[in-house]
Amino acid sequence: ISAGLHDLITDRVRDVPDFPEPGVLFRDITPLLADGTAFSAVVGHLADVFGGEVDVVAGIEARGFLLAAPLAAVLGVGVVAVRKVGKLPPPTLRTAYDLEYGSAEIEVSPAGLTPGARVVLIDDVLATGGTAAAACRLLEEAGTRVTGIGFLIELLELGGRDRLPDRPMHALVSY
Ligand code: PRP
Repeated sequence: ISAGLHDLITDRVRDVPDFPEPGVLFRDITPLLADGTAFSAVVGHLADVFGGEVDVVAGIEARGFLLAAPLAAVLGVGVVAVRKVGKLPPPTLRTAYDLEYGSAEIEVSPAGLTPGARVVLIDDVLATGGTAAAACRLLEEAGTRVTGIGFLIELLELGGRDRLPDRPMHALVSY
């Protein structure tokens, strides 16, 4: 990305030590999302990267929704929510995954996914990659193809990229 966009983002990411657990440095994107210029620049950049060969955008709960939905609207395609377990009505596809801190399950509704559709998966942060890898499994179980994965932030030391092999992946900034 351009140096200007990089600085626009990193100037608006707030570092919060020891959240949600001691020893974890949380990258809080609240100030970035709250700044209209930065927010629209991020969404515009994602649209430049992922526009064209995509049928639907999938966003991962919760902060991924805030990027996936405006991206889908800009691209003129639909949006699908990859949710924490227990939020979606049946039938759903479900899978478990490990987190940087703990473990969880996510679900998608096949009602929002057409077999053969090209999906761009979006989340705010790539940490261990467990969440995104699990989301890819679900989207592929539903018969779609994950043709791209986008993150606002990649946390390099957690090696999440290694859990998403052979997939076109783009992160705007890395730490
Ligand atoms: C965070 C982040 C990603 C995920 C990344 O979400 O928004 O979704 O963790 O971690 P991973 O790469 O190690 O799987 P979180 O689980 O905190 O949920 P939230 O967005 O609902 O707060």
